[in-house]
Order: sequence, then structure tokens, then C-alpha cells
Amino acid sequence: MKDEQLLNLLDSMTLEEKIAQLVLLTGEFFDSEERSIGPKQKIGISQDVVDMAGAVYNVFGAEEVTKIQSDYLKKNKKGIPLLILADIIHGYKTIFPIPLGLGSTWNPDLVRECMEIVADETSASGVQGTFSPMVDLVRDPRWGRVMESTGEDSFLNSAFSSAMVTGFQGERLDASNRSIASCVKHFAAYGAPEGGREYNTVDMSERRLRQDYLPAYKAAVDSGSEMVMTSFNTVDGMPATGNKWLLQDILREEWGFQGIVLSDYAATQELILHGVAEDESDAARLAIEAGLDMDMKTSVFANNLFDLVKSGRISEGLVNQAALRILRLKNKLGLFEDPYRGASVQREQATLLSDGNRKMAREAAAQSVVLLKNNNAVLPIQSDKKVALIGPYSDEKLLCGMWAIQADYEAVVTLKEGMERLAAQASLFHAKGCDILEDYSVLGGMAKYLSVDTSPEDKEHYLRDAIQAAEQSDVIVLALGEHMFQSGEGASRTELSLPDHQLALLDELSLLSKPIVLLLFTGRPLVLTGLVDKVAAIVQAWYPGTEAGNALAELLYGERNFSGKLSMSFPHSVGQIPVYYNEFSTGRPLSVSGHSERFVSKYLDAPNAPLFPFGYGLSYTDFKYGEACLSHPSLNFGDAIQVSVDVTNTGELSGDEIVQLYIRDVTGSVVRPVKELKGFVKVNIEPGETTTVSFNINEELLRFYTIEMEYKAEPGKFIALIGTSSDSFVEVEFNLLP
Ligand code: GLC
Repeated sequence: MKDEQLLNLLDSMTLEEKIAQLVLLTGEFFDSEERSIGPKQKIGISQDVVDMAGAVYNVFGAEEVTKIQSDYLKKNKKGIPLLILADIIHGYKTIFPIPLGLGSTWNPDLVRECMEIVADETSASGVQGTFSPMVDLVRDPRWGRVMESTGEDSFLNSAFSSAMVTGFQGERLDASNRSIASCVKHFAAYGAPEGGREYNTVDMSERRLRQDYLPAYKAAVDSGSEMVMTSFNTVDGMPATGNKWLLQDILREEWGFQGIVLSDYAATQELILHGVAEDESDAARLAIEAGLDMDMKTSVFANNLFDLVKSGRISEGLVNQAALRILRLKNKLGLFEDPYRGASVQREQATLLSDGNRKMAREAAAQSVVLLKNNNAVLPIQSDKKVALIGPYSDEKLLCGMWAIQADYEAVVTLKEGMERLAAQASLFHAKGCDILEDYSVLGGMAKYLSVDTSPEDKEHYLRDAIQAAEQSDVIVLALGEHMFQSGEGASRTELSLPDHQLALLDELSLLSKPIVLLLFTGRPLVLTGLVDKVAAIVQAWYPGTEAGNALAELLYGERNFSGKLSMSFPHSVGQIPVYYNEFSTGRPLSVSGHSERFVSKYLDAPNAPLFPFGYGLSYTDFKYGEACLSHPSLNFGDAIQVSVDVTNTGELSGDEIVQLYIRDVTGSVVRPVKELKGFVKVNIEPGETTTVSFNINEELLRFYTIEMEYKAEPGKFIALIGTSSDSFVEVEFNLLP
């Protein structure tokens, strides 16, 4: 439909019809199921509004979606189709690693290809848009939703943000039915709740917000994300959903965003609980005046905007502009011409979990896993070794993460299945060892669906079998982790260690003096300090998705090499949190200070450094870095210099190395981080070979929010650091000339 036809359609609509377009509901209003994450409440919405509602989310399947759309259109007097959205964060049926695992690939191109597959499977099933990517920067593993983020760095997160939007939408969203509209979330800074406590207050300087937390949302907007979802939290004292500075001044005025701003689940109603709205009418006014276009799963807009317009408390123009944005997205998706947009059962059958999709999932899983320790080359496992595969995750299918709401768990390849495919039967002895949890009540409301009731006798039996399997073997592969639902939304934790009973199993097995390869299935960095010395190797697997077992087996048996690097620091202890690589120096840095041992920035009872730093990950081979060399010692505004380094594979196996460029601005008009990631590249290097890796440095890379809050570079001394992680690099100084 041409835009002028759209404007005519808008003109023809009643105020009630326009308001209903701003309402986003779940499936139970459309004879489907309620699949929503959040408090279950009846929302007091009229059938008239349901019959004219703008959008529905979390309804799935070509058949179901087609019926919902067809039933809806029979009742919609203006023939306006329903927009069909969903939480398809990192996979529809073929599930890719959780985003914190995708972040560990440091491979945005790969992740874009993964999201193209996600879009293809999702659109085949009738869904036209997704509430993804989640690009909240995270520095606090107590927060359960770190699993949904690509990590602690804005430069890396921005690269993934852009890649995911492009993967979902293509270079430009259109009516082609293999793309879906993306919705970047949660705007803004939801990943910085005080105490790591879910939905808690977020409060930081505007400088930190702009410097660290906003860039990845802007990257999504610049890549064309059609929607932005507001976050539950406050930003400078005002909840995002009612925050005009955030939604108008920054998002619309500064960034030029023209798409739809929709609220998170019931966030409009929560303006009352936050204490910035007297009642639902006040909440409706505050939200729509701030710039909110669509209200998720409450009656706030539906039951209040009409009176607010009729009483003159808000202008009808606000309703019109919101409704037009929603109509324009439906038009861009081609829904007026084809409301079903290519949804087809045949296409679903050919697309979902196809061999090609699974192959890509296996590739992504293998690149997402991080080798944290490998003493005496206990890995890769030699084919003549007898292996005891033990642990609650040894043969578990729950490997997709809390947000894989449409995963086909039967299709998930367990670690045992993957290892059996590669290892001769005789050399693999399996025992469960223990359950994932002893007390499932930690899962709150989810416990009733997931708890396992094992008798004390069976627990004894599990342990005895595990010891027996270990005694027959040369090496123990021990698969431990937190429960999949101990991370994700509503899953903040104050203790970040493995459960005591899993640690007890580890202790029992370590008495056998056999090398232990510890695999960790978690949605967050755990505190591993107490167990690092008890094992020979540590593999951080996250939740790798559908092809988990195949990818892990190929890595463990050396069919492929590790390349993953951490995109989030692993704390030495919870007391360090937040601990992240790009910190400020302080006036009394531990490294250099004229003060005595005591009076420097440090703890009495723990190091400053994390246990495993950002950018860290081992390989089966070794890489040696030569000197960092500059094309020129100084840089002028408007031109660029190059910094290069020779990287040599000094081992016996081929390997992919993620070479990282950090830059330190030694002196600024405000304090600057001790280093900031400014470039990365993944290179494959054969044994004995040397590759020269170069990065371009221009003044744009050196920009920051100055004391005057201007985003620009300042002349002065800089240091380029190039290395294999944020704490292992070679460096060279250069100057930015005035
Ligand atoms: C949830 C989440 C959000 C999700 C939405 C719809 O509360 O915060 O990420 O997209 O509700 O399920």
C-alpha cells in the first residue's frame, strides 16, 4: 500500500480503532494459549478492543497463526491485519547458543547468519517480528539475564547488535517472507540493576549511560531495527517507559528513530508502582507523551486514551502518530497484501530443524564454547583413552537456555549422544552422579514443572556408579552446571557457586587422582575459584542449543579446535562484582602508586583481577605475538595510521585466534578507562605459520564524551594494546596531533 493510502486509512479510522492499534496482547485473547513471561493477571480489556487490537505475541505455527489472522480479519471492519510478534531470541526450533555464548564467538558475521536462519524458521511459522536482539550491557553476573546479552563491552555488543538486526531484517526489511522485524531491547540500561537484583533501580551518570550503555541500542537503530522495547527500570529517576528524555530527545531527535516504541510486559501499569503515575489514566498520559507507541499486555492505553483525548488532556495527534507507525510497519511487512506473509505448513516442514540449520547451529555452538584451563594437554582426549562421562549434564537435553520458548527438546543432542557418536563404545563409561539440583524450590514458580524427586537410595546409587565408572577410566569428563532456569528473567542470585552436592561429587572424584575435565553448563559466569585447582581442564559451555552434544564432542576429541573468548569477566568472588576489564585507573592504582602496600585501591581478602578476564580463552595450539608496530608515530585528525603485529602459531595444530585491539587514552578532560576494545579479528593460522594482523586507527575510534559532554577525540598520548585477551598484549604509544 502506498503511504498516502495508509494516511487515508488512518483518516478513516475512529479514535477507538486507532487506540486499539496501540494494544499488544498474548494468545489467550485469540483462542490460543497464554505464553508470557511475567505475572499472570487478568487485564480487564473489552472484546471490542481485542477485535481491533494492533498486535499479538507468542502465538506460533503456520496453522495456528493463519487461523488467528483469518478469524481476526473477519471481524476487523477496516481490514487491518494483526501484527504477529514473538520472543524468538536466539532460535525458533533450531536453537543457537544463548547470546552470552554467541558473544564468546567474537564472530558477528557468523551470528548474522544464525539470525538469518532464525528469521527463516520464524517467518515460515507465521511470526512477523521478534523481541530481539537484547543488547543490554552487563557487568553483574548476579543478574539472571546476563545470559541474554553478548557481554560487558559496548564495542563488541554493538557489532553483535548490528549483526543480529541485519540477520533478522536483511539490509532493509521488506515484504519478502524470510525476514522478520526486529525489536532491540531493553531501552535502556536494564543490565545495570543495583545489587544485580532483577527489576531493581538503575542509576548512573549520563556520561556512563552514553559512553557504555547506549551504543549497542544505537547500533541496532542505525542498522534499521523497526522496533524498540522500553525497559522496566528507571533511568535517572524516571522509568524508561515514561522517560521523555530517553524516548524523544535521544531516540527520536538525536538518533532519528522512526519505528515503533513498545513497552515491556505491563511496564505502563508499573509506572504507578514506580510512583510516577497516580493511576492508569495518568500512566497512559505519561507514557504516550513520553513517546510510547504500543502497550504490552495491559489495559492502560485501551481503557484510558479515549477519555484523555476527549477531555483534551492529550492531543489526538499522539494517538495518530503511534497508530501510523504501527500501520507503516504492517505495510512494510506487506501484510495488507498478504496478511499471512508466506506462513505455510509445507515451508515449516522443509525449514524447521533442517540439516543445514542444524549444521550452522553446531558451528555456532563450537565457536561459543570457551576453554578456560587445559593442564598437561589433557584435552583433546586421545582415542585410546577410556573416558568416564559423569554428571547431571552428561545426558541432559535442557541445554537451550530460558528463552528458547519454542525449542524442540527431543531434537537436542546431549553430551553423551555426541560423545558416543565419536568415541568407540568400549571407551565411554557413563554415570549421572547426581541431579542438577537437590532443592528445586530455588526455581520458584518453575519448580512444579521441573523438580526431580530422587530417593536417598538412588542418590547413593548415582554416586556409587559414578565412582565405579571413574575407576575404570583414564580421564573423567564431569558435566556440571546451574539449572537452566536459574538464569534468565527473574533469576538473580547472590551466590554464584555450583550447588554443594555437585561440588561434593567433584571432591569425591578428585580423590581418585584421575584427570578431570570439567564442563560447565551455565547462563552466567559462576565463581570457580575454589575448584580451579581440583581439575585438569575447564570448558565453559554456556547453553549451546540444539547441537550441543555434537559440537562439544568434536571439541573434546580434537576434531576441531577451541576459538571462543569470554565476552564477560569471571569474578574471583562475588564481593568483587562489578568487575570488568575497562575500569578506570583511580588515583591509587594497585599497579603504580607511591603509597604503601596498604593505601592503594585493593581488597584485603581478594585480588582486584577477575579469575578469568574479558577476551580470555585457550586453544589447543599456542600463539606468539611479535612487537606492535605503527605505520606512523602520530595521527592527524582526518587521517589514519595502522598498528600491526605478527602472530605465529607455535603449536602443532591449526587454530583460530581472535586478535584484539585495545586503546588507552592516557589523559583526557575526564578520566578514561585503562583500556577499551577498539577492534578484533579472527584469523586462522596453520602450525608454524605467521600472520600479520593490522588495524586502522583514526580519530573516530578515539572519541568519547568529554567534560563538556561533547562526543569527540582530544589530542594527546594514546597506547595501542594488541593481544590474545584483555590482560595479555603487546603495546605501543602513539599521539593524536591537534
Ligand atoms: C518479558 C521480558 C521481555 C520480553 C517480554 C515479552 O518480561 O522482559 O524481554 O520480550 O516480556 O515476553
